[in-house]
Amino acid sequence: MDRKFAEKLLLEAKSMNEGAWIEHSYYVAHLAEKIASKAGMDSEKAYILGILHDIGRRNGNMQARHAIEGFQFLTNIGFDEGARICLTHTFQYKDIEAIYDTWDCNDDEKHFLTEYLENTTYNDYDKLIQLCDALSLANGYCYAEKKMVNSVLKFGFKDTTISKWKAIFELKEYFDGKINGDVYSLF
Ligand SMILES: [Fe+2]
Repeated sequence: MDRKFAEKLLLEAKSMNEGAWIEHSYYVAHLAEKIASKAGMDSEKAYILGILHDIGRRNGNMQARHAIEGFQFLTNIGFDEGARICLTHTFQYKDIEAIYDTWDCNDDEKHFLTEYLENTTYNDYDKLIQLCDALSLANGYCYAEKKMVNSVLKFGFKDTTISKWKAIFELKEYFDGKINGDVYSLF
């Protein structure tokens, strides 16, 4: 997978299901690239993973299901690292109930996801896209708190919400440490 091909996939997805998620994907990618280059990570890979993290939305408007659709799509074209990110970016807090929206998928798919998360130890790229997703809207960047509040106003407060918020703050601290500065200064 290279940058050009990842961008081509996003453009193709745009023609299938245009929406705010396209711009959001570019914002996630650019922030991931910047943080990665300061953190001594592979910035090209970070950009590509950011571009493709929501690619499941190509298949139509959906809620948490987009994670599974993206995983299947990228697995089918042989990009396993990207497929993984489609699933992991949704779970800053590792619990399949810890989504802001709802599970529009069947029990088999939820079972698959539960096992996948249990057997996965997050690497720095999982964490990076989780953080960038939490700081990126469709029209730019925001402090983590803003997206947290927006999401809860939109979807409601759940038993897992506080744990998810704590996990997002931990990610912010983790990458502040890795870049030896403040992630917010890179917006
Ligand atoms: Fe997503």
